[in-house]
Amino acid sequence: MVIKTAEFVKSSQKWQDCPEPNLPEYAFIGRSNVGKSSLINAMMNHKDLAKTSQTPGKTQLINHFLVNENWYLTDLPGYGYAKVSKRIRKDFEKLITNYILNRRNLVNLFVLIDIRHNPQKIDMEFIEWCGESGIPFSIVFTKADKMKPNAAKDNVEKYKEELLKTWADLPEIYVTSAEKKEGGDLILNFIQKTNEFLTNNKVNFNE
Ligand code: GTP
Ligand code: MG
Repeated sequence: MVIKTAEFVKSSQKWQDCPEPNLPEYAFIGRSNVGKSSLINAMMNHKDLAKTSQTPGKTQLINHFLVNENWYLTDLPGYGYAKVSKRIRKDFEKLITNYILNRRNLVNLFVLIDIRHNPQKIDMEFIEWCGESGIPFSIVFTKADKMKPNAAKDNVEKYKEELLKTWADLPEIYVTSAEKKEGGDLILNFIQKTNEFLTNNKVNFNE
């Protein structure tokens, strides 16, 4: 997909404040600092469309970007940020889960995972929750540039093995690097194909 335009629309504190749900929407979710905002910028070919930071907990609101004037890309706050109080963490979790469960134009969730780590409980639990809640999702490994290709491959395999303990089929898996601008094109291809499918089948989110 060629990105002709990518514009920031608004930041919302809750799903009820998000833009009119009249276009297909794709959201990035994952642990704080995993690289959600960076990957959005890399895919949009824009240095600072989404705000990034070395300190976890940068994105605290639901941020909507309108792409090519016909679909939304959403940057969500990270989950599992340890350095805030339990109460605040719970509030964030609620904001995220309410958005996911109620946003009727949400077509697919991209669950981002740092490729350097072994399968983490918090990510597996989140993926489990997506499955139980019937939320379509894909897995996106981030920061691939920080590992040697073979070690990265091994970690992806470990993840697949872990997933196959509970899932009959594996979801779509993408390996990316925002730093090197790699892998985002495959995600965009998927989004383009899905958008075409929705148009051909006259899917209308207002109904
Ligand atoms: P929150 O908004 O806090 O939840 O974080 P986030 O998931 O949006 O992460 P963000 O994009 O802000 O990136 C966090 C840090 O990781 C920044 O210092 C980025 O520069 C770095 N980073 C993100 N993606 C990559 C990548 O592909 N490669 C490398 N080397 N660093 C990355
Ligand atoms: Mg962010």
